[in-house]
Amino acid sequence: MEIIRLENIWKSFGKIHALEGVNFSLKKNEIVGLLGDNGAGKSTLVKIISGVFPHDKGNFYLNGEKIEKFSPKLARQNRIETVHQDRSLAENQAIWRNFFMGRHKTNFLGFIDKKFEKKETLKILQKNLGLKGVGITPDSPVSSLSGGERQGLSIGRAMYFDSEVIILDEPTTALAQNESQKVISFIKEIKNQGKSCILITHNLRHVFEVADRFVIVSRGKTDTIINKADTDLDNLTKILIDHAGI
Ligand SMILES: Nc1ncnc2c1ncn2[C@@H]1O[C@H](COP(=O)(O)OP(=O)(O)O)[C@@H](O)[C@H]1O
Ligand SMILES: [Mg+2]
Repeated sequence: MEIIRLENIWKSFGKIHALEGVNFSLKKNEIVGLLGDNGAGKSTLVKIISGVFPHDKGNFYLNGEKIEKFSPKLARQNRIETVHQDRSLAENQAIWRNFFMGRHKTNFLGFIDKKFEKKETLKILQKNLGLKGVGITPDSPVSSLSGGERQGLSIGRAMYFDSEVIILDEPTTALAQNESQKVISFIKEIKNQGKSCILITHNLRHVFEVADRFVIVSRGKTDTIINKADTDLDNLTKILIDHAGI
């Protein structure tokens, strides 16, 4: 079943044509690698899917229904969670507050149920991060986490709130090798849980390890769509160099 379908989507920012008729789809329990050069329009495409920007032209379907008006709130209600390239965590806030940001659990008086939120955050920290960072607790600031741990927290958050689609925009770009590997294992967990993921990365080795299908975008258009079963890492690399100028 197709969860997301974009047909001939256009998006401009003033004179800049970020998307010029892009096509894209994502099926249930599919991991799609969204690839292309810097400035190709990848982040703009995922921002349309996550409700950050409206599209100018084209058709956007969610579970077969045409979307006319969308917003980050509606995306979330439709269980689409995005870890944006421009980071979505507040540096100086406690980890637990970040975890429940926009989704606080309140008690009968309308106050945030801090005890519950801290307890749940601790569980995720133990599960996803193994609490390896010395002395890290739900009360620690986000800034005390490493890049990989932050990605782990963001992905853990998406899983906790039972997202159906998890979008990761360059999650490993700033990470060391062992931390990237951790993110890759989180993505495998997304797949194991029957959920779907859009992964943007320049690291073809990473994306080849986890994705079922690759969508290559070039200058705001879909250039190539290829199944993992029909290619190998060398071939994919060659296509990217030839078609997308990477
Ligand atoms: N908010 C914005 N305002 C103006 N131009 C933008 C904005 N977001 C993206 N762009 C432009 O749109 C094009 C595509 O950008 P982007 O989607 O970020 O590409 P990618 O993620 O593939 O590197 C670029 O030329 C970029 O400068
Ligand atoms: Mg980008």
